Amino acid sequence: MPAQRVAVVGTGYVGLTTGACLASLGHAVVCADADPRKVERLRAARVDILEPGLPETVRDALEAGRLEFTVDTAAAVAEAEVVFLCLPTPMGAGGAADLAAVEAVAEQIRDVLPPGCVVVNKSTVPVGTSERVAALLGRADVAVVSNPEFLREGRAVHDFLHPDRIVIGAAQRDAARRVADLYIALDAPLVLTDPASAELTKYAANFFLAMKLSFANNLATACERFGADIGDVTEGIGRDPRIGSSFLLPGPGWGGSCLPKDTHALLTVCEQAGVDFPLLRATIDTNVIHQRRLVERIAAACGRGPDGSLDGVRLALYGLTFKAGTSDLRDSPALAVARLLRERGAELTAYDPALCEEQPDLSDLAELADDPVRAAEGAAACVVLTEWPQLRDLDWAAIAARMAGHEVHDFRNLLDPDRLARAGLSWQGIGRAS
Ligand code: UGA
Repeated sequence: MPAQRVAVVGTGYVGLTTGACLASLGHAVVCADADPRKVERLRAARVDILEPGLPETVRDALEAGRLEFTVDTAAAVAEAEVVFLCLPTPMGAGGAADLAAVEAVAEQIRDVLPPGCVVVNKSTVPVGTSERVAALLGRADVAVVSNPEFLREGRAVHDFLHPDRIVIGAAQRDAARRVADLYIALDAPLVLTDPASAELTKYAANFFLAMKLSFANNLATACERFGADIGDVTEGIGRDPRIGSSFLLPGPGWGGSCLPKDTHALLTVCEQAGVDFPLLRATIDTNVIHQRRLVERIAAACGRGPDGSLDGVRLALYGLTFKAGTSDLRDSPALAVARLLRERGAELTAYDPALCEEQPDLSDLAELADDPVRAAEGAAACVVLTEWPQLRDLDWAAIAARMAGHEVHDFRNLLDPDRLARAGLSWQGIGRAS
């Protein structure tokens, strides 16, 4: 496989993983980012996000001389055969994806792209963005291809190097082939299609995952009501390969930097285009309703007065990141639950194994404790919000001794109820009899 000269614009999760992994596959990669401090740190292989294997992949590629970092986007793309746009597309006005970063870079690079190069959009973007980028570039000699990324945070390097599929949407067959060649060493199934289908595939995948989770969380409520066990029910349905057993663990709602923004963006574009897609709205609403129900449950157990006020009630939260294995707090369901608890007047202390330093964003929400036992001081209940495995092995007897109450609301079904019982604590999971 001939190595290609690749430029990656944007070094977030997707960009940095793409750049480092393509370099590990033998390509010569230059990553550009506007943040000089970040570029300086990356040149020294210092990766600021918690992502297993990524610092090592960056370091090895730097040492092999196949990876460079620069703040000069124009210089990075000037020699490239393939240019990846890995830029943030946050939730903008009315829930639509904000394409400002993608559009700004397209304008910045249009006059410096070498003839015949391929621009690849890896950012999650609405249908039609490839065409929009092509129009902004205004270069008949440059093809624009959609190649969405399906990696998960916390497993980014693994997912990049072991993809279930590689989706490439291109109007020109030779451009699609050149992008496919970049991945030839991975031996993954290829879905070669048009740009609109590739762009929609990304939104459809994240929406389907969110829908599965809203389903699982509603099913957990039904299990509690009917005395059934969510683990057994999801195993029972998941053994049917048409359903599949993954992504059915109930929790405190789904979140993170992608699922919420992408479901909202798909809903917005569908509404704008007059596409009636009631499952989208239901999936999003179910998440909010589910979180409110969990807070009601805590209020019913620990609240005061007929309205279940949590005024002055101290609660210890275990886990704040949007899932285990990441330090990312973006759109974390744990924070959404914490906000609802605060609205009811609860006083919150939180412990999260990935968050040791003071987090400015959290100051109005919860006090951060660097010690799990100290977090329990005076707490009426403990609430488990992120599935960090190490929470199972906390000193629950010491935690019980510090608490004012004895309840543990385990919204990840993570802990061992017998072990908690031995510590004098009463466990309540989700979708299970306690
Ligand atoms: C998600 C998708 O899983 C990736 O395929 C996609 O590439 C990525 O978004 C993206 O668009 O960039 P990620 O945001 O890393 O990946 O998070 P997930 O692992 O999907 O978890 C999302 C949320 O669902 C978390 O809050 C997690 O705790 C929750 N979850 C997940 C459950 O509650 N139960 C489960 O069984 C699985």
